[in-house]
Amino acid sequence: MSEIISVNEVKKIYSVGGQEIAALDGVSFTIQKGEFVAIMGPSGSGKSTLMHLLGALDTPSSGTYTLDNQDVSAMSDDQLAEIRNHKIGFIFQAFNLLPRTTALKNVSLPMMYAGIPKTERQKKATHFLELVGLKDRLQNTSSQLSGGQQQRVAIARALTMSPSILLADEPTGNLPTNQSFEIMSIFQQLNEEGHTVIMITHEPDIAAHAKRVITLRDGKIIKDQLNKKRAVRKHSK
Ligand SMILES: Nc1ncnc2c1ncn2[C@@H]1O[C@H](COP(=O)(O)OP(=O)(O)OP(=O)(O)O)[C@@H](O)[C@H]1O
Ligand SMILES: [Mg+2]
Repeated sequence: MSEIISVNEVKKIYSVGGQEIAALDGVSFTIQKGEFVAIMGPSGSGKSTLMHLLGALDTPSSGTYTLDNQDVSAMSDDQLAEIRNHKIGFIFQAFNLLPRTTALKNVSLPMMYAGIPKTERQKKATHFLELVGLKDRLQNTSSQLSGGQQQRVAIARALTMSPSILLADEPTGNLPTNQSFEIMSIFQQLNEEGHTVIMITHEPDIAAHAKRVITLRDGKIIKDQLNKKRAVRKHSK
């Protein structure tokens, strides 16, 4: 296995009304290619702050973050945008799909922005939508899909640019339990196929699907453990 992420003594300090708040207070860990990691912790523990750093949406106040052998902590805004577009497949709690737009189009859009020709876009988008079990829903708009189906479209979209990591922020936060577990089965399948998955969640029964769980409290890692009794779900395509 090779190292894909290295976070070293990372701090993120916010200054509010003259007072300094350490949202992250000296966090260090590495992630190998092919891991499936859940990041847990109570409200205010620093999960979203960490997600923003890992997703190259922000840089640390101090410490280093290396993704795919590139030092992201020292990058300019333009370089960060490049990393976001090519190395990170984002999956958000609120799906972030265009509403009156078909699944096929939603998945194709990032490839369009990247200048990939139309026939290749269509082929790839169809492939990834099939992969997440939506081959019968290519022409449905977002409002014609259930929450779980919309999240699957978002996962297909995240896969299109062959990202180094899939980064999910509370991916099941808006979903009922059965649809949440369906999303977990897709993450497990993608992980078996070699994708590196990092998922932020505050729900223990969702984190139970990951191979490793990192727990934050007050901006520090208080636990980093392999999940010996992992919940395994079969994906029905
Ligand atoms: N932009 C900001 N300015 C000032 N303080 C912030 C900012 N963002 C986060 N914080 C503070 O940093 C700490 C960590 O916040 P963060 O959003 O990372 O927590 P979280 O673990 O994602 O919580 P939740 O589960 O509620 O989403 C909190 O104390 C929060 O108030
Ligand atoms: Mg948060």
